[in-house]
Amino acid sequence: MSPHDLHSDPYGVGLAYRFSVHREALAHRSEIDLLEISTEDYLVRERRTYSDPGEHLLHEALATFPCVAHGLSLSIGTVGEPNDPYLDATKRFLAETGMEVFSEHLAFHRADGHDLTMFLAMPFEGVAVKWVAENYRHVRNRLGRPFALENVTYAFPVPHCSLDEAGFLKRVCEETDCTLLLDVTNVFNNSHNHGYDPIEFFDRLPMERVSQMHLAGGHQLPDGRWEDSHSAPVMEEVWPLFDEAVKRAVNARIVVLERDSKLKPFSSVMHDIRRAREIFYAHRPLEAPVRERDPFHVDGAAAPDLLDPEYAGLRAYQRALMGRIARPEFRAAFLREAPAAAAEYGLTDPLWFQRLIDSDGRSMHHFEESWDYFQKEDEEVAKEYERREWAQWADQLARGRW
Ligand SMILES: [Fe+2]
Ligand SMILES: [Fe+2]
Repeated sequence: MSPHDLHSDPYGVGLAYRFSVHREALAHRSEIDLLEISTEDYLVRERRTYSDPGEHLLHEALATFPCVAHGLSLSIGTVGEPNDPYLDATKRFLAETGMEVFSEHLAFHRADGHDLTMFLAMPFEGVAVKWVAENYRHVRNRLGRPFALENVTYAFPVPHCSLDEAGFLKRVCEETDCTLLLDVTNVFNNSHNHGYDPIEFFDRLPMERVSQMHLAGGHQLPDGRWEDSHSAPVMEEVWPLFDEAVKRAVNARIVVLERDSKLKPFSSVMHDIRRAREIFYAHRPLEAPVRERDPFHVDGAAAPDLLDPEYAGLRAYQRALMGRIARPEFRAAFLREAPAAAAEYGLTDPLWFQRLIDSDGRSMHHFEESWDYFQKEDEEVAKEYERREWAQWADQLARGRW
């Protein structure tokens, strides 16, 4: 079977692939239908150097399992320059590996070169729908394929918006040909943290557009909120929601269990996989049903114009929000005199300004603290990667490979 056949239409219940459980995953091939490969692990030099420098493990995984790809760095919601080098690298990686199914996150986490690496909710507003739809078309064109967008866990909804999360997702589906990657754990987290009914949420989503699902474990913070830490078994409360989602999302053919840490003992991961299989195959045939797939066309859509006055408020809000998190001097200026500080980013529209002022203070404080902490840690990690690369190079030199 050529790689393209193996990866053209994966079906069933699988695992988000992590190097650390490569052998375990292979040993359970009969119960793991597919793997989800994080493109980030191969596109980011440091990650690859650390984990699988020769990509031997990746190639073995790709030869053994049907695989789908999942990206992390797009930040499709950022009103900013398109991240074309990232998209081109992703496209190359998909071509090299033969993977056809791709997904990314419906969120924003980057502005002015600062990447929070934690997802922020898009403002649930018409103008944000429009931006995401235009940017989706650009990304789709650059990648040469449609892709799925994932609902994320978010710390706080942007205040004073005219839509809610379900309404926003629905509108994005209406404006594009994207499918949805429905992360059921994220639905549970958000419904609990932000006080809405998850079943009603399903009622209002275009469930026929769901092509994939995620399940993950999280933990509850001391204040009662849930976090998607991906470091624990799937929470008990998520399973009935998953059952409901599988029942309703009749076109969803892919389920992925995500576990980033505490992957051992692997029996705990397999426990969740088996439970997900039981539910999935209670509603689906064991063999992948044959389906007609419409050929898709790439239409040459250009990147949206970030300087379009229509996006000015959204853009200024995003930049100022990131400034509050990532720039200590801006934080101080904002505390002293918010309107004058915000004007630095062109945030003068009263409604967008108010949205920034009324953003959840506790979450903002948490983001600021995390940002400061990770800045220090990133410096240490960068030094360590460099040291490892030099060590590998020196080792190869000593073995006469250069
Ligand atoms: Fe994800
Ligand atoms: Fe997810």
